[in-house]
Amino acid sequence: MAKVTYVEATGVPHDISADYHESVMEGAVINSLPGMEGMCGGMLSCGTCHCYIDAAWVDRLPPPSHEERAMLENIEGRRPNSRLGCQIRITDDLTGLVIHLPPEA
Ligand code: FES
Repeated sequence: MAKVTYVEATGVPHDISADYHESVMEGAVINSLPGMEGMCGGMLSCGTCHCYIDAAWVDRLPPPSHEERAMLENIEGRRPNSRLGCQIRITDDLTGLVIHLPPEA
């Protein structure tokens, strides 16, 4: 289990215990957090798992793949710290990760 924090667009934080290798998207969907849907189930084809990685963690995550970067280019509200939650596996060394959720669509 790794403890990660999701912060709603409104600023409300949620501390979640995530299973090892669960994705950031799965952690949000399982816990019914607003702002992340994961409509394609992690197949990298919907972009509804878009989120913002806290500045302190951006360089500590594996970099996005070419496919993830291509998908992110089409995401409304994209920022330099944007990622797709389905592409980030939660591992024990990500304990403390902070993810900022976009506003609900
Ligand atoms: S869940 Fe569809 S791209 Fe991540």
